[in-house]
Order: sequence, then C-alpha cells, then structure tokens
Amino acid sequence: MIVLRASFSLFLAVVLAGAAQSQTLKIADRQASKTVTAQQLLADPATRTVTIPNDPVYGRSMTYRALPAVELLKGLAIGREDYVEFAATDKFSVGVPARLLLDSPGTRPRAFLAIEAGTEPWPAIPDRGKETAGPFFLVWQDAKRGEISSEYWVYKLASLEVTDSPYKRWPALNVPDNLPSTHPARRGLDRYVTLCISCHRFNGAGEGEMGPDLAKPMNPVDYFQPEAFRKFLRSSKSVRDWPERKMPSFVEDMLSEEDMEALIAWLTYKARHP
Ligand code: HEC
Repeated sequence: MIVLRASFSLFLAVVLAGAAQSQTLKIADRQASKTVTAQQLLADPATRTVTIPNDPVYGRSMTYRALPAVELLKGLAIGREDYVEFAATDKFSVGVPARLLLDSPGTRPRAFLAIEAGTEPWPAIPDRGKETAGPFFLVWQDAKRGEISSEYWVYKLASLEVTDSPYKRWPALNVPDNLPSTHPARRGLDRYVTLCISCHRFNGAGEGEMGPDLAKPMNPVDYFQPEAFRKFLRSSKSVRDWPERKMPSFVEDMLSEEDMEALIAWLTYKARHP
C-alpha cells in the first residue's frame, strides 16, 4: 500500500510538473538561451494555418497553427553546417541538419513548428493513451515519402538547441578515414545518425535515452540471430511485443533493404573495431 501511495503521489507530482512546464519551449544557440510560451508563438505574425495531408504521427491529414522553422530560428547564431538538437519531454532527442530547417521559402520540404493552443488541444496520438503531440510538434510540409527521416517529426517538443553535427560531437561514432569510400559502414553510420540516435546511445555517444545503448554492454549483432535482427528492425513486434513497446518498425519506406544492410555493416564494423 505504502509503495502504491508513494508512486501515486510521485505520479501526481510528475503530471502537475508536466502541466506547468508543458506550454513553454526553450530555444538556445551557443551563446544564449530563451524560453517562449505557446501564447507568444501563436501571436507571432508569421504563424499560419498549415495542413499536413499525411501526418505520420497521427496517420491522417492534420491542420495546425504553425510557425515556419526559418522564423523560429531567426536571430539565432546558426550556420548551414550546424545541427539543431530537438528534445522531447519523453527523452527522445534528435539532431536535425540546420540546412533542412533554413532552406529559403519556396524550397521543399518545409519545416514548421506546430503549436497546440491550451484552449484547443489536439487529439491523442493513436495507441499512446491520452497523450497529444503537443504542446509543440515539428512537422514537414511537402516531404516526399522517405525524404525526411521519420525521426525528424518530433512531437511533445520541449527544447531546441543549435549544436555541431553528431559526427563532430561524437567522433567515436565515425569510421576511419582510410576505410574505402564504398564500404557500406559509411552509409550505415549516416542511417544510424538519422534514424536511431534519437533514442539510443552507442557506447555512451548520443543524447537519446528512450532505448538501450546499442554498444554497451553488448552490440545487437553479437546477440541477435542475423535474420531475427532484420525481422526486428522491420517489425519490432514480430520479435517481441508488450503494451509499452516503443521501438519503431522501420518499413522499407523509412529504411530500404540496402540501407538496412549498410546499418548492420556499421554496427558490425563497430563491434569488431571497438
Ligand atoms: C523512437 C525511439 C527509437 C528509435 C528511433 C529506435 N529505437 Fe531501438 N528501441 C527503442 C526502445 C524504447 C527499445 C527498448 C524496447 C522497446 O521499448 O520497444 C529499443 C530496442 C532496440 C534494440 C534492442 C532489442 C533487444 O530486444 O535487445 C535494438 C537492437 C534496437 N532498438 C535497434 C535500433 C536501431 C538499429 C534503430 C535505428 C534504425 C532504432 N533502434 C531506432 C526505441 C527506439
């Protein structure tokens, strides 16, 4: 009983803290940081109504009040070689190449920060209980299928920060310069940084904490049967399933057969050359 009561009050504290903080977004570059509220962003003259015909998080067409990412990043010290680290309230964290966010109006795809108004909450995300994608959600207009990583649709956003590229921040992820340029591990590293780093660390490298470290204590190529690993990446529930399962299923649109082999080649390379 005591345990139950303690965890219930902890639950309440977390819920209340979440509600109090949830309507603000922290924005930082290398010099300064500021916090803006949903109300301020909704009142920005550049905020407009945006329709996303195939919203991958909701699995249907959605309409949002949204601020173009270019406007959101205005005034920050940011270059095209930089990345912007987007962190969500649920420990998901991904670096998006700044050039994708800064591209001039008219170029496609275009990134927007969708803003949930406290008075008009969005619907709950399918299969995620009562959670909505709010208060802030990074959405992409006119992205062709597979063009923008599924991980770049960051929902439940809490902060964004201008950073170096992941290759510069975590050099241990890299493969050596003398590895042939055609070696699949090179492409595999690119896929890892685009698709996996948001939730997993690799030997400590990265900021994701939603899933396990993929090098420590063991690299999956060292404990998975090769075919079961491929099956797991395509459809995680076909290997194990439970209500709290969060590992996405990377269907071919998100990860082609060739890219999956490249990703496995990188994991294998790193397992053999720690
Ligand atoms: C949205 C977050 C997320 C992303 C993105 C993600 N994973 Fe996971 N992954 C998880 C979580 C959480 C788990 C723990 C199991 C679970 O809850 O489903 C997991 C588990 C795993 C496991 C452990 C499986 C086991 O049972 O030992 C491997 C291996 C793995 N992921 C590989 C990958 C690879 C490779 C990628 C990129 C292609 C990736 N993950 C992308 C969240 C993620």
